[in-house]
Amino acid sequence: SGNVRITVHPSFDVLAATTAARLITRLLDVQSERGEATVVLTGGSVGIATLKAIADSPARLSVDWAKVNFWFGDDRFVDAASPERNVGQATAALLGSVGVDPARVHVMAASDEVADLEAAVADYQGQLAAAARLEWENDDDATTSGDAKVPRFDVLLLGLGPDAHIASLFPDMAGIRTQGVTVVGVTNSPKPPPSRVSLTLEAINTAQEIWIVAAGADKAAAVGLGLAGANPVQVPASGARGVNKTLWLIDQEAAAKVPEQL
Ligand code: 6PG
Repeated sequence: SGNVRITVHPSFDVLAATTAARLITRLLDVQSERGEATVVLTGGSVGIATLKAIADSPARLSVDWAKVNFWFGDDRFVDAASPERNVGQATAALLGSVGVDPARVHVMAASDEVADLEAAVADYQGQLAAAARLEWENDDDATTSGDAKVPRFDVLLLGLGPDAHIASLFPDMAGIRTQGVTVVGVTNSPKPPPSRVSLTLEAINTAQEIWIVAAGADKAAAVGLGLAGANPVQVPASGARGVNKTLWLIDQEAAAKVPEQL
């Protein structure tokens, strides 16, 4: 329905390899059009495997990595050195080895870098707003308006939890209900660690394209409910809608409960 598309891949590895190829192509296309490209990264097994697959692909050499802006959909509010940090995993998988510009990697503050979670939220909101402002000032045909609170996101990747959470927006919790701001702090995540920083659904849905990546039988119910148009408060993934496109990139096992009419 509408701009929502599903692509089913035969295995986890093929899903990661194909998503890597798709992302490389998308970055190339955006760079040829605009000079730079902006991607919002996700944690989770498929998201990180996709970055590894890019690092392993000769096609990565076509991308001007120094002109890719990176943001994160969420991160865990733990020490900067913790292996649980999405930014640490993304750096190990790709960002540390392809020549990205550190100034273009927008990291959510770690717990040993700021006073508290609220400070981390305010910091990321500030980074987003500053980037949006700069984009508007510098780009004659900017798609954002002067009062936009986030820059243009060309692709936003989302992992999917078995409970249908996206980023750190969990079912029935405050984060998924939060409106009017771009970033939210989560203190009681049902999945450890409990403290997280997350984009809100409003901020997520400003992306030109949202790619939801999911693999494994334990995701089948979440994929089914997400595609069936359930209430986003109970099924956060069902609320994710890119401006131009929403792609569900999944493996065979995660596709077991895709609604028939789709
Ligand atoms: C987290 C994870 C989470 C993840 C999904 C899917 O912060 O808890 O990053 O949001 O994206 O749970 O993860 P898997 O693909 O590893 O199952």
